[in-house]
Amino acid sequence: MAFFSESIGISDSTFQIIRDLIHFKTGIYFENDKKDLLADKLSNRVLENGFTNFTDYYFKLKYEDSDTEWKELINCITVNETYFWREFDQINVIVNHLIPDLFENQKRSKIRIWSAACSTGEEPLTLAMAINEAGYFDKYSIQILASDASTNVINRAKSGLYKDRSFRNIPEDIKNKYFTKIDFQWKIDTEIHNKVDWFIKNLKNQNEFSFLYSSDIILCRNVFIYFSDEAIKEIVNTFYDKMPQLAYLFVGISESLLKLKTRFELIEKNNTFLYIKNEQ
Ligand SMILES: C[S@@+](CC[C@H](N)C(=O)[O-])C[C@H]1O[C@@H](n2cnc3c(N)ncnc32)[C@H](O)[C@@H]1O
Repeated sequence: MAFFSESIGISDSTFQIIRDLIHFKTGIYFENDKKDLLADKLSNRVLENGFTNFTDYYFKLKYEDSDTEWKELINCITVNETYFWREFDQINVIVNHLIPDLFENQKRSKIRIWSAACSTGEEPLTLAMAINEAGYFDKYSIQILASDASTNVINRAKSGLYKDRSFRNIPEDIKNKYFTKIDFQWKIDTEIHNKVDWFIKNLKNQNEFSFLYSSDIILCRNVFIYFSDEAIKEIVNTFYDKMPQLAYLFVGISESLLKLKTRFELIEKNNTFLYIKNEQ
C-alpha cells in the first residue's frame, strides 16, 4: 500500500458536505474550526484512491457508498485513546453493586454487559479482570460484548497484545497476574480474553447486531465527545428503547447527557454518576 504524508487543501464548501456526510454515517461531527484537522486525517485516503482533490473523494463516498472506503475513513478519523483501569470507579460500581443486585435481588439468571465503543479492548478486558477478581465468573452467568466502528482497533483487540501505554493506570499486581511479556508487548491471559466477544459495529447503524441493545449494562464512554447532540440523542434513545426494564448506562466522567433531556435518570452511587432506566 502506498503511503503519502502530504496534506491536501479543502475548500469550505467541500469541507461542509464531507463533514455532513460523515456526521450522517457515523455521528462524529467536525466543527468548522476542525477543517484542517479533517483534511490532514483524510488526505491519504484521497491520494490512495487516485484523486487529487476532496471533491472527487466526496463523490466516491456519497455515490459509490463503498463499504471498504467507509471502513478506511473510520479508521482514519476516529480517536482510539484508551487504557486499562480507566475511570475505574465506574467499573467498581458495576462489580460491587450492579452485578450482585441484578442476580441476587432482581433474580436475573444471566446478564449482558456491552462496551459499545471499546477501541483496542482495554475497557471490556478491565471489566473481565475485575469480574474475575470478584470471583463472579464461577458464580454468575455474565456475557461481555465489545464493539467499535473501527476495524483496526477491533483487530488489535482480538490479538490481545498491548504496549506499555495501555498500562498507565493498572495496579502492578493485576498486570503481573494477567499479562505475559512477549518481546516489547504484553499478552493478556487467554481465559480472560475469551470472556469477551468482539464485533465491528457503527453505533449509527442500529440494525447491525441489534441484540447488543438488550444488554443490562452499557458502557459508551469517551465517544460522545466526538458526536453532535443530535446523534447522541438518537443513539441514547435507541439504548433506552431496547434495553431491559431495569438497565444501566455509563458515559465517560467528562460527558453528560443532562442537557439532552433523555429518558434515562441520572443517579449517583459511590461517588460515581450513572444513568438508569427503571420502568419496573
Ligand atoms: C476514545 S475511544 C474510547 C474507548 C473506551 N470506551 C474508553 O473510554 O477508554 C473512542 C472510540 O469510539 C469509537 N467510535 C467512534 N465513532 C463510533 C461509532 N459511530 N460507532 C462505534 N464506535 C465509534 C472510536 O473508533 C474509538 O475507538
